[in-house]
Amino acid sequence: MRTPDWQDLTRFAIALAGASALEILPWFRRNAKIGLKAGPVWDPVTEGDRAGERVMRKMIEEHYPDHGINGEEYGIREGRSGYTWILDPIDGTRSFVCGMPTWATLIGLNFEGKPMLGLMNQPVVGDMFYGSPEGAWLDHRGASQSIRARTGVALSAAAIGTTAPELYREGRERECFERLRKKAQLTRYGGDAYFFAVMAAGHIDIAMDAGLQAYDIAPLLPIVTGAGGVYAEWTGGDAAEGGNVITAGSQALLDEALSVMRG
Ligand code: IPD
Ligand code: CA
Ligand code: CA
Repeated sequence: MRTPDWQDLTRFAIALAGASALEILPWFRRNAKIGLKAGPVWDPVTEGDRAGERVMRKMIEEHYPDHGINGEEYGIREGRSGYTWILDPIDGTRSFVCGMPTWATLIGLNFEGKPMLGLMNQPVVGDMFYGSPEGAWLDHRGASQSIRARTGVALSAAAIGTTAPELYREGRERECFERLRKKAQLTRYGGDAYFFAVMAAGHIDIAMDAGLQAYDIAPLLPIVTGAGGVYAEWTGGDAAEGGNVITAGSQALLDEALSVMRG
């Protein structure tokens, strides 16, 4: 296989982010109609989610017709190249419908199931985090900087970010999370994808969530690893496919966290 041009693919992912923002922003803070998805927790969807994904799929189909797509709103389109774009047009729709600017658009590119490139865009704040085998960066309103996860932090001094305690639905997962939370210095809630990005940028030490789908997490993993961070699926699965995913700034902290969670 020819070495992929990550810069070229990153430029394309940034173009997807820009196009999706134009479709999504007109629906933000408009109290627009909310649809509900089936499932055990209140799971809203808006026209912003659908319009954002539609424009990205159209661009991918035009530019990379042999690439596959896995998007939250419109499902899987098989490709013929080993490459698959992973799309979550609005991660944090619960925040979106509450008018909180902590939602984000997630765009990932997997090769043969392995997350290689990832981008998280928050167009209200002006934050775009992205990562590839070449590193990880934050573009904030035109200013670009490379980012690095924080190291040398023990669990007793660590800050954890996770979306909500009620998302640890199974008793065992709840117990694992509680054990970990009690040993850490600080736990913050409500961040959805943002916690993984700020972990990669060295502002918190652990970002984690339970019960994820591939499109909730695969686009974030290249940002985490590009910044030197590490990850695991704590029940033994492949984090790229979703599940129960914990990310940390260092292998030592991840190992300590996993050991506390195991009890
Ligand atoms: C949600 C976010 C959240 C995770 C939930 C997902 P959505 O995605 O990824 O962080 O904990 O399980 O449903 O529905 O807002 O795209
Ligand atoms: Ca999501
Ligand atoms: Ca979503």
